[in-house]
Amino acid sequence: MYNDKYIGVFDSGVGGLTALEDLKKNFPNENFLYLGDTLRCPYGTKTKEELEKIVESDIKYLEDCDCKMIIIACNTATANSYHINSNVPIIRIIEPTCEVANESEGSLIVLATNYTVNSKAYSRFLKKDHYQVPCSEWVEIIEHGKTNSKESFDSAYNLLKDYQGKIDNAILACTHFGLMEKEIKAVLGENVNIINSSKCLSVKVKEALDKVGYNSLKEKAKLIIRCTNNKEAFNVSWLSLKYDSLEETKI
Ligand code: DGL
Repeated sequence: MYNDKYIGVFDSGVGGLTALEDLKKNFPNENFLYLGDTLRCPYGTKTKEELEKIVESDIKYLEDCDCKMIIIACNTATANSYHINSNVPIIRIIEPTCEVANESEGSLIVLATNYTVNSKAYSRFLKKDHYQVPCSEWVEIIEHGKTNSKESFDSAYNLLKDYQGKIDNAILACTHFGLMEKEIKAVLGENVNIINSSKCLSVKVKEALDKVGYNSLKEKAKLIIRCTNNKEAFNVSWLSLKYDSLEETKI
């Protein structure tokens, strides 16, 4: 079955673009519309009530854009999305990541936003013992393009030093954290097995595409990126993908 509509993907900011890189690699023929909600970023330090409203409006926005599927490329938003129904498939990031992590051997640490840690959303789906560390301060570092700096390495050291030498597997349970991998490995060790939530979505996306239909490729696949505040400050300099437009939108 053919379906030329866009796949909608959202996150609070640039983090979900790390998931989009992986999705574009696995589904190069699909049209993608990415929403980075910079106006309300960060999500991980908000209350449950605030987040529920935010996530409802992100999903409504992508439904109104007539997307054929909505991918929540955000762990914090996923933790607040289980009450939402839609007439298009919603792909959530936590379960597929836990499916990968459940196959891992050895000790496991979940690195996530403060909200995701407090919500215990990962503990619901993980079948292994695990540590959890709230790392919301990294989101600001990443949004402001300050990785690879003394500040980012110091922050990683302060949050993770107690786990040095103790961890075999680390879940990057926030889509921003792929951009802090160097800093994380500098503390946990180069050999730590990284399970990046941003790279765990494709199995579920394939299942949903089998149901809603693939792009018919009448024209070249498009990638539109939108943010909800100050597009000049939207830090996409690290992004390897080519996009058709970068726009500011109201939500
Ligand atoms: N990237 C998001 C996540 O996966 C949240 C970052 C934030 O806004 O706090 O949880």
